[in-house]
Amino acid sequence: MNVAEWIDLSGKVAHVTGGGNGIGTGIVRALAAAGAKVAVSDVDFAGATAMATEVGGHAIKLDVSDREAVDAALQETVDVLGSLDIMVNNAGVYLEYGGPVETITDEMWRTLWSINVDGVFYCCRKAAEIMRAAGNGGRIINIASTQAMTPGVGVTYDGSKAAVNMITKTLALELAPDGINVNALAPGPTWVRGGEAPPLTGEVPPATGEPLADTVAARISRLPIGRWGDPIDIGKAALFLASPMSDFVTGIYLPADGGWLVL
Ligand SMILES: NC(=O)c1ccc[n+]([C@@H]2O[C@H](COP(=O)([O-])OP(=O)(O)OC[C@H]3O[C@@H](n4cnc5c(N)ncnc54)[C@H](O)[C@@H]3O)[C@@H](O)[C@H]2O)c1
Repeated sequence: MNVAEWIDLSGKVAHVTGGGNGIGTGIVRALAAAGAKVAVSDVDFAGATAMATEVGGHAIKLDVSDREAVDAALQETVDVLGSLDIMVNNAGVYLEYGGPVETITDEMWRTLWSINVDGVFYCCRKAAEIMRAAGNGGRIINIASTQAMTPGVGVTYDGSKAAVNMITKTLALELAPDGINVNALAPGPTWVRGGEAPPLTGEVPPATGEPLADTVAARISRLPIGRWGDPIDIGKAALFLASPMSDFVTGIYLPADGGWLVL
């Protein structure tokens, strides 16, 4: 038994949306370190380019809420890198669309859902089409959140992540006969601002326009593992779901959350 082969992604091609910053960078790094060629897409093309350059991958400018652009970006992945074996739907937005329900405008609701839900659907649909046609199976990993299971960021975001979870289960059932495993990965609070070490207690310095900053500080103080997640923590869990380690795993909701959902 060669355990190293269980996480070997040599010869595989992955596409990570929102791969230019935050959690996406941890996922890109983990998959590339395991041998995958990685297409890194993002609305932030400079971020995507920096990550793709770091791992020897391919950068694509993509807004996942644009259906035609999604179709083109996934086809570009096949055309440039040779196939599409692992699709990671990570792009998402949150804090700026939160707040008390009566303050959430139609535009806030529709904008977040167009990215967090429509974007995941568009990427799943095109990835399934490509993977089914190729006939080699595949992996689809949808980045949900602990907020798919427990409220926290507000109705707009929490609802969107619950939708992502059920989209995942439904597609796991539909695509299993084609050897395509579909799973949701749920990060807990993960420090994505870079720079200094993340705070463990007290006030989190609010960035402009982040209405839930003090709530975030309260959350961290109740994490059983006692620290923020790092993007590479989520990358390691994504590697599990992308690799032969999880050949018999489909339709799950995998928290990588420092124990957040235990309480
Ligand atoms: N950080 C956390 O604590 C946390 C917890 C649970 C779930 N998540 C989820 O993890 C994913 C990544 O979040 P993050 O914390 O790294 O955020 P982030 O803001 O650091 O990174 C998100 C990336 O997505 C990109 N993006 C935004 N809108 C896009 C669009 N329309 N099309 C393509 N790319 C777009 C951004 O440019 C950015 O590079 C999201 O789905 C988020 O909901 C994050």
